[in-house]
Amino acid sequence: MPYSTLLLDIKDGIATITVNRPDKLNALNATVIRELGEAAAALEPDAAVGGVILTGAGPKAFVAGADISELASQTPLEGKARSLAGQAVFRRFEAMRKPVIAAINGFCLGGGCELAMACHIRIASETAKFGQPEVKLGIGPGYGATVRLPRLVGRGRAIQLLLTGEMIDAHEAWRIGLVNRVVPAAALGAEAETMLRAILDQGPLAVAAVLEAVDAGYEMPTPEALLLEANHFGLLSSTADMREGMAAFLEKRRAAFRGR
Ligand code: COA
Repeated sequence: MPYSTLLLDIKDGIATITVNRPDKLNALNATVIRELGEAAAALEPDAAVGGVILTGAGPKAFVAGADISELASQTPLEGKARSLAGQAVFRRFEAMRKPVIAAINGFCLGGGCELAMACHIRIASETAKFGQPEVKLGIGPGYGATVRLPRLVGRGRAIQLLLTGEMIDAHEAWRIGLVNRVVPAAALGAEAETMLRAILDQGPLAVAAVLEAVDAGYEMPTPEALLLEANHFGLLSSTADMREGMAAFLEKRRAAFRGR
């Protein structure tokens, strides 16, 4: 499907989505949000896609936030609708049962940081900068930062970032747990692909079950979350992939998983 604000490349099981408005630092306007939703909807059921890498075009930005030129004139009801629409799109990536890695190549601000937080794993270039500067514009975050940032970095640090709007560098983002890994700018794409390939080498049914257990289990009382995990553990025992994985270990060879 052709997109006007995204580049989509699917190769060897990996779909790379690039937000492509480099002259506006890849700011999220309504078209980008809609097209991200369409891309997520298309990739989730696509058997040719094992996982997704999300990144931004150009050397400067991953995504520098929601498009302020659109926010500037919104009415209260339009603001609420914009927030709900963006939240639903980001949730599609978070709820995907295929791994989604954000490859963060520069400014990762506001809605950009919120998009990255909805991904399962974040890898940052050492030139990346992070922040939730919404308060500087007289608004609060609308695409999930008040919910996901405290879960990732703890409530105290999240509140500090949300209330000061300060920008932090990639090493500080790594130190507080906002990103998983920091790499030289030139190595970012390769690192994201290497990590995704390492995941795609595992059994896809197991990967999907773990994503579901963490995603759904996170909001559950502990006994229910443990039961969900046990149910997955049992269910996966019915799969050819489990038999293959264990046979491969015992025969000291690499497993060839087939997703069934
Ligand atoms: N929405 C709309 N346009 C944006 C944008 C955003 N969030 N972020 C950057 N842009 C645009 C700029 O307006 C500029 O467009 P122009 O060339 O037509 O004037 C272009 O992208 C380049 O940005 P510029 O500000 O000139 O780059 P810079 O290197 O001087 O500064 C930032 C980079 C990221 C510090 C600065 O662009 C910025 O503060 N952006 C807004 C970040 C933000 O508040 N995000 C949260 C929004 S809720």
